[in-house]
Amino acid sequence: MELNSSSCNAEEISTKRCRTCLHFQLRWMIFIFLFAFLFSSAAAYDPLDPTGNITIKWDVISWTADGYVAVVTMNNFQMYRHIMSPGWTLGWSWAKKEVIWSMVGAQTTEQGDCSKFKGNIPHCCKKTPTVVDLLPGVPYNQQIANCCKGGVIAAWGQDPSASVGAFQVSVGLAGTTNKTVKLPTNFTLLGPGPGYTCGPAKVVPSTTFLTPDLRRKTQALMTWNVTCTYSQFLASKNPSCCVSLSSFYNDTITPCPKCACGCKNKNCIKSDSKLLSVAGVNTPRKDNTPLLQCTTHMCPIRVHWHVKLNYKDYWRVKIAITNFNYRLNYTQWTLVAQHPNLNNVTEVFSFDYKPLVPYQSINDTGMFYGMKYFNDLLMEAGPAGNVQSEVLLEKNQDTFTLKKGWAFPRKVYFNGDECMLPSPDTYPHLPNSAPVSSTVITSIITASVIYLIIMVIT
Ligand SMILES: *[C@@H]1O[C@H](CO)[C@@H](O)[C@H](O)[C@H]1NC(C)=O
Ligand SMILES: *[C@@H]1O[C@H](CO)[C@@H](O)[C@H](O)[C@H]1NC(C)=O
Ligand SMILES: *[C@@H]1O[C@H](CO)[C@@H](O)[C@H](O)[C@H]1NC(C)=O
Ligand SMILES: *[C@@H]1O[C@H](CO)[C@@H](O)[C@H](O)[C@H]1NC(C)=O
Ligand SMILES: *[C@@H]1O[C@H](CO)[C@@H](O)[C@H](O)[C@H]1NC(C)=O
Ligand SMILES: *[C@@H]1O[C@H](CO)[C@@H](O)[C@H](O)[C@H]1NC(C)=O
Ligand SMILES: *[C@@H]1O[C@H](CO)[C@@H](O)[C@H](O)[C@H]1NC(C)=O
Ligand SMILES: *[C@@H]1O[C@H](CO)[C@@H](O)[C@H](O)[C@H]1NC(C)=O
Repeated sequence: MELNSSSCNAEEISTKRCRTCLHFQLRWMIFIFLFAFLFSSAAAYDPLDPTGNITIKWDVISWTADGYVAVVTMNNFQMYRHIMSPGWTLGWSWAKKEVIWSMVGAQTTEQGDCSKFKGNIPHCCKKTPTVVDLLPGVPYNQQIANCCKGGVIAAWGQDPSASVGAFQVSVGLAGTTNKTVKLPTNFTLLGPGPGYTCGPAKVVPSTTFLTPDLRRKTQALMTWNVTCTYSQFLASKNPSCCVSLSSFYNDTITPCPKCACGCKNKNCIKSDSKLLSVAGVNTPRKDNTPLLQCTTHMCPIRVHWHVKLNYKDYWRVKIAITNFNYRLNYTQWTLVAQHPNLNNVTEVFSFDYKPLVPYQSINDTGMFYGMKYFNDLLMEAGPAGNVQSEVLLEKNQDTFTLKKGWAFPRKVYFNGDECMLPSPDTYPHLPNSAPVSSTVITSIITASVIYLIIMVIT
């Protein structure tokens, strides 16, 4: 990013030519800034969860005659992005000719070519094994702690105790000391779809374990970590949800943007179609292709934000989430919203709520999720395919206004993916007030710039 201002000396600066060059440099700076901005959102960085990641830790717990036994633990440190059914798939490449003798709490999807082994046959001989979790209810002798959940891992912010998965692997034809072990490479993680990128394995200080009676500490013989981060950009080129808006002060319902989730090459089925009564229409497909209800937005999920009431000291918002996919139940769904008044949530009805404070000074983001056994399951499209809640917020008289779309959210995420908002000029507006002006856009840009600055500083 060389600005090359030395080419403009004092004498030249008055000439027209150098003024053009300054102008060009300014444009160039703006371009670089915009590029950095775009790039930062494309890279695996989520401003609402800047440290979110999934860490995969390998603890070598014993050396064997020809290798080692390791416990592999996956911790989901993401506040609001979980791994939903059908669960995670983990892959890596062995650095040498390693094989997997056996596994507990997980299995590889393919054994590969083990023909050179006589007698004892390994569990997997592939150079790049692909591992999946076992289903709940496997025999006890195939389980270890935190395994066998069908690959489902909760979000850290929702249920830290369920945000972990684990299995044990016995590796052969490998190094048998911490000097000769070669770390696996090229880790890949599907959760269950694409979106995660994993870094290289790094040796870290050995994990210490406490015995159940807390009276003795043991230590892994060697530990390495792999960190995987999520990028919505990698997961899919289109959004997977959209937002619609309405208010008590205007009859207009601002719908989701047209084709918010992409209309190209998408099949759908009308909500009154006779095909819906055919048995098996709801059965999920192996590749998870959705069966969408036909809508103008073509999103599997719509979040509706309704400004319902305006009291003297409080105001009330109704939030409804609708599923338009006939082939998917969303288990343990999460909804994240960003709004300046979320620093003063008084009560949330029928959803659980937790403020997210990624930057100590800004308390404008929170996550909503279903109450266990009540509405933590968002059912397939149809009459039962929605969940809703109301939120009571205490006004801060200095900032509260119904003008300029202030009462609507700045950002909405469903299951960790950002939802497309309508364009600000279509927001329902107060009678006799100008439509949402560009100040909303400006403030969004300002907020983004602040995040960018914070990101650069930290
Ligand atoms: C992964 O997440 C944890 C918990 O938020 C954080 O402490 C750690 O620094 C993160 N790791 C990376 C490489 O971002
Ligand atoms: C390795 O991962 C574990 C979680 O699995 C985490 O607690 C630990 O801090 C990580 N170590 C490093 C050095 O990142
Ligand atoms: C390997 O083991 C030796 C002792 O057996 C220890 O001193 C050393 O720190 C270990 N190295 C690593 C990378 O764990
Ligand atoms: C890891 O992946 C890269 C690129 O896909 C490939 O070039 C390399 O050979 C792989 N390494 C191993 C050990 O398979
Ligand atoms: C969703 O859950 C309900 C109740 O558990 C079940 O009857 C239905 O088959 C499920 N639908 C899908 C698409 O899995
Ligand atoms: C953020 O706001 C919520 C109310 O919405 C409050 O309960 C919480 O304590 C606040 N957190 C911080 C760090 O200010
Ligand atoms: C919540 O609103 C009340 C009333 O305006 C105000 O006094 C209080 O400071 C607000 N709390 C926060 C955390 O902004
Ligand atoms: C309601 O909002 C819409 C969209 O911004 C606007 O076109 C319409 O004039 C508003 N209605 C009234 C009564 O102000």
